[in-house]
Amino acid sequence: MSGRVLVTGGSGLLGSQTVRAFAEAGWAVTAPTHAEADLADPAALAALAAARPDLIVNCAAQRRPDRCEAETPALLALNVALPARLARLGVPLIHISTDYVFDGTAAPYETDARRRPLNAYGRQKAAAEEAVEALPHVLILRVPILFGPCRDWRDSAVTVLAANLVAAKGAAVRMDDLAIRRPTFTRDVARQLLALAPHAGRGLAGICHYSGAEPMTKFLMGLTMAPLIGCDPAQCVPDRTPPAVPRPYDCTLSTRRLAQVGLLIPPTPFAAALAGTL
Ligand SMILES: NC(=O)c1ccc[n+]([C@@H]2O[C@H](COP(=O)([O-])OP(=O)(O)OC[C@H]3O[C@@H](n4cnc5c(N)ncnc54)[C@H](OP(=O)(O)O)[C@@H]3O)[C@@H](O)[C@H]2O)c1
Repeated sequence: MSGRVLVTGGSGLLGSQTVRAFAEAGWAVTAPTHAEADLADPAALAALAAARPDLIVNCAAQRRPDRCEAETPALLALNVALPARLARLGVPLIHISTDYVFDGTAAPYETDARRRPLNAYGRQKAAAEEAVEALPHVLILRVPILFGPCRDWRDSAVTVLAANLVAAKGAAVRMDDLAIRRPTFTRDVARQLLALAPHAGRGLAGICHYSGAEPMTKFLMGLTMAPLIGCDPAQCVPDRTPPAVPRPYDCTLSTRRLAQVGLLIPPTPFAAALAGTL
């Protein structure tokens, strides 16, 4: 299937790979930049609707938990109101959400697990999900921590570790060794979105989970990436200090539903995906 797709947040970590994957598959992609359309402004949506997309993929969000604590009207418009406003356009919509809707105490999480967010970001994403999850033309795809090609390694909470190692010039870098994460390659998520495109809002609705397969702490991620960027793994120092803004311990997302419907894209092994990113 191909057609017209509107990708919001198309300059971002996930959006950029989504734009690329759909374009390569022959879709006509519209992906307005933030400067072209401020999606916190309801008036911007009318202009987007004029593109008459067959599918919308919503990758626009503020996803840095520290920045989400100040719940400004513009932030809430983006993280909470935007998905419902996009859904009101009546076009099949895939809305990207997060494992942070869970508190991390009861992994692995199935798609129907109860939301219990620990911080403002998680509460905002949970509220957005609640507003659209019952709509038959909306599919919510939850993903965990992402990494992949980007302008700056600091754009991902995974590859920022590589930036920190290089910047430290051989000195020690403390890395969280508490929280369990399954780093997920944006190119895999983009392929998953392509696989979902013909079905989303056309028989497949509700919530699906996509995730990398390997559980690890940031410290273990650092040990894997250090040799790939010419750094000494001994620079990586495990840090077991709890974060200032609470974050879940282990939000492993079960991908059972995607497997059951026969649409699950196998994730690229972490080391191979990193090698293609750094
Ligand atoms: N990154 C992760 O580890 C992670 C983990 C779990 C879930 N997610 C979810 O995945 C989705 C994509 O995240 P991401 O990592 O790709 O985020 P990102 O790299 O920060 O990209 C966000 C995108 O949204 C755009 N944007 C922000 N505010 C906007 C506004 N007011 N109007 C129009 N565009 C705006 C940004 O454009 P500008 O940069 O020009 O502002 C950028 O293109 C989000 O729903 C996020 O919650 C991400």
